[in-house]
Amino acid sequence: MKKLQLTLVTLLLSLAGLQAQTRITLSPDLAQTQINKHIYGHFAEHLGRCIYDGIYVGEKNTAIPNTNGVRNDIVKALKELKVPNLRWPGGCFADAYQWKDGIGPKDQRPSMINVWWGGVTEDNSFGTHEFLDLCEQIGAEPYLAGNVGSGTVQDLADWVNYVNHPGGSPMSELRKKNGREKPWNVKMWGVGNEAWGCGGNMTAEYYANVYRQYATFMTSWTNDAKLFRIASGASDADYAWTETLMKNIPHGMLSGVALHHYSVIEWNHKGPATGFNESQYFKIMDEAWKMEELIVRHSTIMDKYDPQKKVALIVDEWGGWYDVEPGTNPGFLYQQNTMRDAMIAGMTLNIFNNHADRVRGANLAQIVNVLQAVILTEGEKMLLTPTYYVMKMYNVHQDALRVPIHLETQNYTFEGRSVPAVSASASKKDGSLNISLTNIDYAKPQEVTISLRGENYSRVTGQILASGSVLDHNTFDNPEKIKIKDFSGARLTNGVLKLTVPAHSVIVLNLK
Ligand code: AHR
Repeated sequence: MKKLQLTLVTLLLSLAGLQAQTRITLSPDLAQTQINKHIYGHFAEHLGRCIYDGIYVGEKNTAIPNTNGVRNDIVKALKELKVPNLRWPGGCFADAYQWKDGIGPKDQRPSMINVWWGGVTEDNSFGTHEFLDLCEQIGAEPYLAGNVGSGTVQDLADWVNYVNHPGGSPMSELRKKNGREKPWNVKMWGVGNEAWGCGGNMTAEYYANVYRQYATFMTSWTNDAKLFRIASGASDADYAWTETLMKNIPHGMLSGVALHHYSVIEWNHKGPATGFNESQYFKIMDEAWKMEELIVRHSTIMDKYDPQKKVALIVDEWGGWYDVEPGTNPGFLYQQNTMRDAMIAGMTLNIFNNHADRVRGANLAQIVNVLQAVILTEGEKMLLTPTYYVMKMYNVHQDALRVPIHLETQNYTFEGRSVPAVSASASKKDGSLNISLTNIDYAKPQEVTISLRGENYSRVTGQILASGSVLDHNTFDNPEKIKIKDFSGARLTNGVLKLTVPAHSVIVLNLK
């Protein structure tokens, strides 16, 4: 009887609109695990207009302001984003890349054909020095992806030596001759990419052995550069791949195992980046939510072999993948970026934050003009995408302490299929509590109630990224249609926060 009364009260409250649709409990006093800033990493491949006619315009023959050939407007935007690491030169391109062709006088650098991406001629004018200079300009740590598919063990060992040896070795002397006296001390190294596919079509067992061989000859030449070696990981739900690597590679030579997951409707029918319908929107949200299950299941396998979680899971490719913009080269993967992409970013970063004990690095694909880019360019014009703004709002979580969260939310349902509407994560740093919330519902706002346990906060401020339609995006004619705005709609009373999160929006709250 009592239970029936309670249900009736709940129903009445809900009909009256008084019932919170999303209830969150946060325990800031129990925060322990650090959210590694490298979860907020990016990825730049020699693909389409990411590097050339994107980040890098060259020093000569351009009116676009640049420093050493890198666009100044992009450098400014990426510095403000606080990019913690940048993965380069691929992707699939990494396993075709001959790094020695990308050093020395530019007029003497051999060309190659970029077989994976459009069959265009790569003149190698952007190579190791240019990439590491870009990283220094934007303040990001470099993450170099080594060629295992078509390069030799010696080539990769030489690359490590070239960038990290302090001096006296043939490779470090060559570096000095090419104008760089001090080593760069690059720590993050990928040992191949997608070894199950474009990286060599290997079996997991075979790749595990190849990894052991390549990793053996990748030496830390200085104490400053203790190498963080990352194995080419599974695609999506290939759990057997992760299991084989965890079982067969000694953990002393394995710092991280990668995972790639793209939100795509169907590889042969991806659908447009703009002008999509609700069915296509829902499918992408469903695909993006799969990241949660993928991380849980890959982590469970890793826990079996590494209960102390010493080996990191590095999601070094993620994001939305659609048809290219009409009239552009299909091999260049150039797509617009709408509020739908902001939803992917908001929920995915919440998932990563909440699994920070195992996920200690990730790279959005890709940084400029390719796939779910944070920046798009057209000639001298540049725009920041909704994804850029989500990454910027969320950067408060970098290296902060993850706050334990319990969340109950309504579903976003479309044609009988459902996904959770709201995702959230929270962290503590410098006396502040930051809470990020993403409501992916196509049309419905969510009433959110957040109970704070164990610590007192008295002041709340916030920021919001919202727009009238999920189809909305920034264009070169209207580059500021979508941007971060202040949000003052959260009320904090006696340790309980209440706010409404509009449909398809992202909010980050700061409490002191
Ligand atoms: O990001 C584009 C491509 O997707 C990468 O080159 C490859 O690793 C993945 O298949």
